[in-house]
Amino acid sequence: MTETVAMGRDGAGDLFVRDLWYVIALSRSLKPGAMRREMLLGEPVLLGRGRDGKAFAMRDICPHRGVPLSAGKMLANGAVQCPYHGWEFRKDGVCSAIPSLVEGQDMDCTKISVRSYPVREDAGLIWVYVAARPGAAPRNEPPVIDVPVKKIRWHETQLFRCSIDHAVIGLMDPAHAAYVHDHWWWKRKARVKEKHYAPLPTGFVMTAHKPSKPAYSLLGDVTTEITFELPSTRFETLKGRLLGHGFKIVGLTVCTPRDAENTDIIQVFWFPWWLSFILPLFWLLGPTFIGDDRKIVELQREGLKFNPNLMLIQDGDQPAIWYHRVKKAWAESTEKGTEFVNPVRERVLRWKS
Ligand code: FES
Ligand SMILES: [Fe+2]
Repeated sequence: MTETVAMGRDGAGDLFVRDLWYVIALSRSLKPGAMRREMLLGEPVLLGRGRDGKAFAMRDICPHRGVPLSAGKMLANGAVQCPYHGWEFRKDGVCSAIPSLVEGQDMDCTKISVRSYPVREDAGLIWVYVAARPGAAPRNEPPVIDVPVKKIRWHETQLFRCSIDHAVIGLMDPAHAAYVHDHWWWKRKARVKEKHYAPLPTGFVMTAHKPSKPAYSLLGDVTTEITFELPSTRFETLKGRLLGHGFKIVGLTVCTPRDAENTDIIQVFWFPWWLSFILPLFWLLGPTFIGDDRKIVELQREGLKFNPNLMLIQDGDQPAIWYHRVKKAWAESTEKGTEFVNPVRERVLRWKS
């Protein structure tokens, strides 16, 4: 059975899903007292960190005359001051001062505000919640990073010049490895793979199994589990025992849509210090693998600019089909305010790669 699924570009629903948490930046990139502009879902966001260490986010457009607030100053009182006429905004986006007003011109400046975004910070990541209705309380919390030491041990970010949809399905695509990651030191003869999948609250999981790549044997006897949840959080959790010590390696890959055509792929890993001997592998494999994926989506642009119809086929493209279905169901639930029902059913997928 061949299924054809229309993708964002040709108008099959919105490209961006809201009421979800997005990784906007790594904690280490934002020092106390700093602020800057970050694009997120096509909107300019001022991302800042107060001198108290707390990160905050607000719309990076002054409501007076549109100047980016991130180009202004963070004042000693913690407010952000616009560089044009000096209006001040608290971290919750409420205007706290309009310097041009003189006595007798009583205007309640707190009636003016810019959109502010809920922010969470954990395990080295800054998450921003993009509500479908600005101001609405978050429907959920960002994923829990379940590691004993919440220090990022390795990270790599690359900008993909494509929509979030192509970035996501490019990364989850099980059939591309032999062609896109065609390195002699990584290659293996194609074999039939059979993997068990089950639904998760807003996505699905390839349940724990023994990884087939020989590189993993460096870690002794391991199992790996790969999850995917909206908007684009993919966890790979490796568990094993080495020299009598149990260990866990957690990798997170997210696709952060900056705008419709630019998506940051952010990959981070947490693992115990005593596993540091695996770091050279990350230096070698990490940038290479993400770079392979980036180059193929750049090549894909050459076809996509003619707005062709695209296909997703069984079983190799099933994760991509699920991604579109989950995303659509989530978008409907945000729009109608109804409960989200995950369309994914437990299944074994078979493909050759
Ligand atoms: S444009 Fe920001 S204060 Fe006037
Ligand atoms: Fe890949």
